[in-house]
Amino acid sequence: MRMALRFILPLLVVLVGLAWGIMPLVDHRIERWLRADVETRSQLVFFSVQDTIAALAMSKADDKIDALFKRIAAQDGELLALGLCTPAGQLSHRSAAWPQSLGCPASPEPDRPFSLEHLTDGPVLAASFPLAANGAASGRLVILHDLGFIERRSTRLKGYLVGFLGALGIVVAGLTALIARLTLRSWVRAVRKGVSAGIEGAAADKTLHPDVGPLVEEMRKLLRDVDTAPVPADAIRVDWGPDTLRSLLHTELPDAEVLVVSNREPYVHNLEDDGTITLQRPASGVVTALEPVMRACGGTWIAHGNGSADHLMVDEQDHLQVPPDDPAYSLRRIWLSNEEYDGYYYGFANEGIWPLCHIAFVRPIFRVTDWEQYVAVNQKFADALVAEARTPNPVILVQDYHFALLPKLVRERLPEATIITFWHIPWPNAEVFSICPWKEEILAGLLGSSILGFHTQLHCLNFLESVDRFLECHIDREHSIVRAGEGTTLVRPYPISIEWPPAALAAQAPVTECQESVRRRFGLLPSTRLAVGVERFDYTKGIADRFRAAESLLATHPEWLGKFTLLQIAAPTRSRLPAYRDTEIEAKAVAKEINERFGRDGWMPIILVPRHHEPEEVFTLFRAADLCLVSSLHDGMNLVAKEFVAARDDEDGVLVLSTFAGASRELQEALIVNPYDVHAMGEAIHTALTMPQEQRRERMRLMRDMVAEHNVHFWAGKMLLDAARMRKRRHIERPIGDEASEPVTLKDNENDADSHSG
Ligand code: G6P
Repeated sequence: MRMALRFILPLLVVLVGLAWGIMPLVDHRIERWLRADVETRSQLVFFSVQDTIAALAMSKADDKIDALFKRIAAQDGELLALGLCTPAGQLSHRSAAWPQSLGCPASPEPDRPFSLEHLTDGPVLAASFPLAANGAASGRLVILHDLGFIERRSTRLKGYLVGFLGALGIVVAGLTALIARLTLRSWVRAVRKGVSAGIEGAAADKTLHPDVGPLVEEMRKLLRDVDTAPVPADAIRVDWGPDTLRSLLHTELPDAEVLVVSNREPYVHNLEDDGTITLQRPASGVVTALEPVMRACGGTWIAHGNGSADHLMVDEQDHLQVPPDDPAYSLRRIWLSNEEYDGYYYGFANEGIWPLCHIAFVRPIFRVTDWEQYVAVNQKFADALVAEARTPNPVILVQDYHFALLPKLVRERLPEATIITFWHIPWPNAEVFSICPWKEEILAGLLGSSILGFHTQLHCLNFLESVDRFLECHIDREHSIVRAGEGTTLVRPYPISIEWPPAALAAQAPVTECQESVRRRFGLLPSTRLAVGVERFDYTKGIADRFRAAESLLATHPEWLGKFTLLQIAAPTRSRLPAYRDTEIEAKAVAKEINERFGRDGWMPIILVPRHHEPEEVFTLFRAADLCLVSSLHDGMNLVAKEFVAARDDEDGVLVLSTFAGASRELQEALIVNPYDVHAMGEAIHTALTMPQEQRRERMRLMRDMVAEHNVHFWAGKMLLDAARMRKRRHIERPIGDEASEPVTLKDNENDADSHSG
């Protein structure tokens, strides 16, 4: 209807204008035609009676003249009256209808016998013809015709003309609208087909409608440009920091609302025995990486509130602004019951998925009850996330293996959201993954994401392999895209990193002072060479193995007896689980055994401190150490390795790094070791302790360059740029004519399931 009106209205306007313009012309022509007709008729009348009247006038047969006039007037309906004028211009005879006010019309020109008389009843045409009898002029015959009928006929004709033009306009407009609609429909179909064929790489050009060929080519080019647009992250060197990230958000994702969801919260409030509340920053790779990003971007971080004083610090909506000393974003705490936490966190996440994804030879345990809690808690977080969203298309950063189902749950309710899920741990090969009884649900859940990130290409390939094996979907390996149902997920490696320079470095004393304070604190001699290890007490970290490596060092190189100490900080973690308790027991037993074997006179080869340390304390240890030992049996990335490098602004210190940590792909100047080969690891420690200073410096410089450039802002920036590109692409691909595409701000309480389901 709207399209028909679009055609009809302008056409009607044009036709009315046309009618209005040509009407005077039509009027004029009609008048001339009819008047010529009247003139001809006057002449015909005159020619047929001139001789008779001339003769009657000569014989003065007045009665006969009157009778003749009467007869002629009766025969011609348009003829008004006849009159006879004497040669002197006197009206001698006239028929009955001759107007009273009219005398004998003035004598006209011989070749134009017609004159127009304007009488009160309307215009009258007077035709005066000279009469002659026997060669002598005998007066004039005047024939009057009423011209009023011309006006009447002209008005009627104009009415017909307007009616005709109107009808013509409507018919033409209707037909045009119909043809336009049909043509447009076929074009839209052809464009859609052409564009999607192009995207999927099909050679559909031969079937392309010739009318839309150039348009489709243009759109394909545009889409290609979106995919290959030069971006800061690909540039030779961009210094990524909070400002770069903020301006990226501003330019590439304007007005985007940022929401983060993770299990571990960035700030934990604990109630101490003396009634005071302390603030703790947990030992978590997720927190280490995401916190600086959130400080830069702002937004809301949704996480489990598990601190004993957490509930005392939030407002009625369970929010608080953090960091407490310089608020930059909002933390929304979610409360979980013991039952939920046991099943979802300890059970399914940490006894199921964690050992499933890490090759550390700990058997995964899958219980139906744990799975049920995992599903319920994912739903609970999804509900909270949807309730927090103020726009229908926020950028949502989903963190880690605790929330494999959440992307799909959110996608169902916020179909326009950009969901970036990052899997912080390794993804196993398809064979291992098949152990999980709910593998299909987990894969489908993750494929609710717009972007799914892993640390390494190998983890991406493993994931694609698992999808290929267990789900019905299309995998575009060239572009690393999975299409499942309506959704598209980009699967990419984004090696995670740390803030550069790290906040914890800001208040550090010079290296020599750090060495002194650490020596004082742990009773070390000034001559002692120090290795540090900093981890959570997790079986994947290979803590006992690195103790064995220290043992091997001392056994193989006794010159280090009394001169080398390995200081291991291990934050207790998930201690309720037997595998973790066993890890702690084993590590303590191995440390004790080695200390008993080699320790003497106030010197211990291994110092194990099983407690949490805040980032500043950890950085002081890093700065005091000669080397850092990261011997993970399997690790997604391991940010401790990067933190050690970042802490060494003196460009000294050696990193000994497991080949099974994702970080070994980037920090190639570390001494890369196989943690299962304790002898080789012992030798690597020896190499580190004896490495010339110049070589230490060169290695450290290269590693520092690497981490400085590929810092956490770069990591987040790359994902956000990919997300921005996907949003632009979706905008371009949006069906033509879809006018409901503009982002709409949700009002409070409108963001329920129904309002997003369209
Ligand atoms: C790993 C996981 C994180 C987790 C962290 C600490 O780094 O990838 O998601 O937060 O371990 O574990 P926790 O269970 O204490 O949060």
